[in-house]
Formats: sequence, C-alpha cells, structure tokens
Amino acid sequence: MSTPKLLTISGSLRQGSYNRMLLKEAVKVFGEADVTVADLNLPLYDGDLEEAHGIPEPVQKLADQIKATDAIVISSPEYNKGIPGVLKNALDWVSRVKGAVLKDKPTVVVSAAAGRTGGETAQFMVLSCLTQLQVRLLPGPAVLVAGAMNEFDENGVLNNDLYRKTLTTRMQALRAEVT
Ligand SMILES: Cc1cc2nc3c(=O)[nH]c(=O)nc-3n(C[C@H](O)[C@H](O)[C@H](O)COP(=O)(O)O)c2cc1C
Repeated sequence: MSTPKLLTISGSLRQGSYNRMLLKEAVKVFGEADVTVADLNLPLYDGDLEEAHGIPEPVQKLADQIKATDAIVISSPEYNKGIPGVLKNALDWVSRVKGAVLKDKPTVVVSAAAGRTGGETAQFMVLSCLTQLQVRLLPGPAVLVAGAMNEFDENGVLNNDLYRKTLTTRMQALRAEVT
C-alpha cells in the first residue's frame, strides 16, 4: 500500500495559530503520510475578477492539491460565533473550479478556539458548507479544543489526554478510509 496523501487546511492564517498546532498533532496521530499544508492566502472571491481573469493561480494550486490528496483534515477557529472569512473564502473559490474537486473527498473537521465551546458553532458551519460541496465527511466524536491557549505546551504539543484521544480516534478512522 502506498503512503497516503494528507492535506491539512487551517482556518487561521496566523503562524502561531492553535489550529495549526492542532493540525500538526493530527498529522502525528494519522501516521506516515505525504503531507501538504494548504495556503489560504487567496484573493477575496469576486465574480468580476473571476470573469476577467478566471481562477487565480493560488486558488488553482489549492484545488490541484485537493484533487491530488487522499484525505483532508481541516481545523478552524471561531470568529464571532462563525466560520472565519479566510476559510469560507477558500471554499467559495474552490467551489468555482471545474470538476467538483472536493466531492467524495474523505475529510475530518476539528476546531480550536479561545472560548468555552471550542469553536462548536464555527465547526458546525464548516460542516454545513462542506455538505453542500458533497465532501465525504467522516463522523465521530467532535474535537473541540476549548480554551486553546491553555491546551498546548511551548512546543505546540497538545497536553490534554481527552482531546488527544478523540483526535487519535478521528484521524485513525480517516486513515482507515484511505488505506
Ligand atoms: C475576530 C475574532 C473573533 C473571535 N471570536 C471568537 C468566538 O466567537 N469564539 C471563540 O471561542 N473565540 C473567538 N475568538 C478568539 C479565537 O478563538 C482565538 O483568537 C484563537 O486563538 C484563534 O485561533 P488561532 O489560534 O488558530 O488563530 C475570536 C478572535 C478573533 C480574532
């Protein structure tokens, strides 16, 4: 069996992002993989821009990464009880690329946020958008890292056993789906 390809998508652009840390932990428990980190630094979706110039190069790159991958893990923060604009913008752009690249792609969604619900509302919104895009969402116990600033050590390691156990369950299920 060849090494599975895993694409990680963070809804936060911040370098010190807890969601980026959570994705690194997700990659570790997924096991050996050919990992690609998506870059959501994209222009804002604009129908005029699309009409004049087509799909922008960084959007096409992201769509190609999605197309090529076996599995996806998305980690999103919550902004004002909702999905972060950068993630929604990326999904909107990708949905405009021909070929429905996200359709049937095995995907797990997790979240980390400062608040007490661990970004539950945002995670629900991400799942809802992905349903529209016909993504193959893997069910399982929700990974909602609440009070994220207290759950990672200085090396970005997730210190909470319960979150770690649930993340492992989800990522092993994702691995089983693609190997
Ligand atoms: C614009 C904005 C809105 C936010 N709204 C929420 C919120 O609704 N719920 C919450 O738990 N945290 C909220 N936060 C705090 C984020 O959870 C926190 O900044 C978190 O670290 C962001 O994720 P990141 O570390 O991956 O960048 C908000 C932060 C920002 C910048």
